[in-house]
Amino acid sequence: FDENYKVLEFKEFGDEKGNLVVAEGSGFDIPFDIRRVFYIYGSERDIKRGNHANRYTRFVLINVSGSSKVLIDDGKKREVVALDKPRMGLYLGPMVWKEMYDFSPDSVLLCLASEHYIESEYIRDYDEFIKEING
Ligand code: TYD
Repeated sequence: FDENYKVLEFKEFGDEKGNLVVAEGSGFDIPFDIRRVFYIYGSERDIKRGNHANRYTRFVLINVSGSSKVLIDDGKKREVVALDKPRMGLYLGPMVWKEMYDFSPDSVLLCLASEHYIESEYIRDYDEFIKEING
């Protein structure tokens, strides 16, 4: 995508057996090849996670259970997206500052990533992030 971030809606197949949501990788529903999956759960409501930007990695965040909020800051504007439906995804491009918070007790936040974990591509200092955005 050209956008820094974008709310996605996945296909949902619901019937008397229950629900099934599909997110296909490699440019179909997820706009990258998925190299890493991790999930965040058991965070108290007043906990703030994230607080970083990534120089290269793109993500799609999905609250497969429960809800949370994501603050997105691209250095120019700030927006809050509430993740509260299993069929809803939030795409985040590179160089976007993100903070995840307001986790419900049943929140399971699934994160799909375009890259393996490389600590050196994380920017964990907000002033450094602003410097690199403007640099
Ligand atoms: P951290 O980035 O601090 O999580 P959050 O931003 O959600 O608060 O990561 C927590 C720990 O997990 C930290 O020690 C790094 C490790 N970690 C990995 O080893 N691989 C990964 O893919 C991720 C996301 C984290």
